[in-house]
Amino acid sequence: MTLVLGIESSCDETAAALVDGDRRIVAQRIASQDAEHAPFGGVVPEIAARAHAERLAPMIEGVLADANVALGDLDAIAATAGPGLIGGVMVGLVSAKALAMASDVPLIAVNHLEGHALSPRLADAALDFPYALLLVSGGHCQILRVDGVGQYRRLATTIDDALGEAFDKTAKILGLGFPGGPAVERVAKEGDAKAVPLPRPMVGSGEPHFSFAGLKSAVLRAHESGQYKPEDIAASFQQAAIDCVTDRLRIALAQMEDCKTLVVAGGVAANASVRAALEDVAQAHAMRFTAPPPKLCTDNAAMIAWAGIERLALPDFIPDPLEISARPRWPL
Ligand code: KG4
Ligand code: ZN
Repeated sequence: MTLVLGIESSCDETAAALVDGDRRIVAQRIASQDAEHAPFGGVVPEIAARAHAERLAPMIEGVLADANVALGDLDAIAATAGPGLIGGVMVGLVSAKALAMASDVPLIAVNHLEGHALSPRLADAALDFPYALLLVSGGHCQILRVDGVGQYRRLATTIDDALGEAFDKTAKILGLGFPGGPAVERVAKEGDAKAVPLPRPMVGSGEPHFSFAGLKSAVLRAHESGQYKPEDIAASFQQAAIDCVTDRLRIALAQMEDCKTLVVAGGVAANASVRAALEDVAQAHAMRFTAPPPKLCTDNAAMIAWAGIERLALPDFIPDPLEISARPRWPL
């Protein structure tokens, strides 16, 4: 049975996981840095890199011990090589290189976005290519057509902020703390989504791209007006964001009519209201809908290990060279 170690360190989660070819997460550990970054209201790259450097090696040792596995038992070591905060990415990738070299195991440098893009296949064995993918995280907001491993066509992206970033900024404006997405979702449950008139940027545009900067500014103005309760702003923001996403998907899906499944991945896919709205979109297009469980939506190492397993299974697989560089930017 194929067994791959995955390492993730591109943002503020330090994570290691062992995943096998039967889609079993054999062991995993994850350490969030929320407490370190919370005083700053956002991720501080230097603090993130230091925290990864302190935690990653014992974490990998722990995951191997949890599963009673030796490095030599691995079929590959897969690590995020970008995109992300470069200091953290370097910590993970260099650790993977050292382990690969010491144990003579193949190295697989994984694009973090590919990890998110393939994560639904780890959770759902029935998910076949091609599929329509909404990838919504803190750094990215894209609609992609996924034709196979390594075969991604981007149909839409954001012209300014990512969707997760809009959730985080809304949380900051409302004083809900960090990380913002789950806080906005929680508070929105108590609010009235119709209470605050907010714009739906790009809705109606013939191209499926996103824009969230104007929505964020409108949230700020609504808050500063003193007229609205924070829970109503949160609920109205979340509904406006969902309306943008469903409208943009409608345009993009018209260009992917042969895709039978609508898939969502990335941190914002953990949001229950977003998932429910996407389920409706899929139903309206006679598509199946699938989303990984919330823990596989936010950053994790199991999805990186899984991307490694998918790459290993390609007929033309070749390991990545030990001199491969970490990349702060790396489009799919
Ligand atoms: O995929 P991810 O963990 O990291 C990146 O690759 O960016 O995504 C993190 C983003 C953050 O912006 C976070 O606020 C958002 O996902 N997020 C959520 C929820 N959980 C995480 N947004 C809305 N609702 C949630 N429940
Ligand atoms: Zn991510």
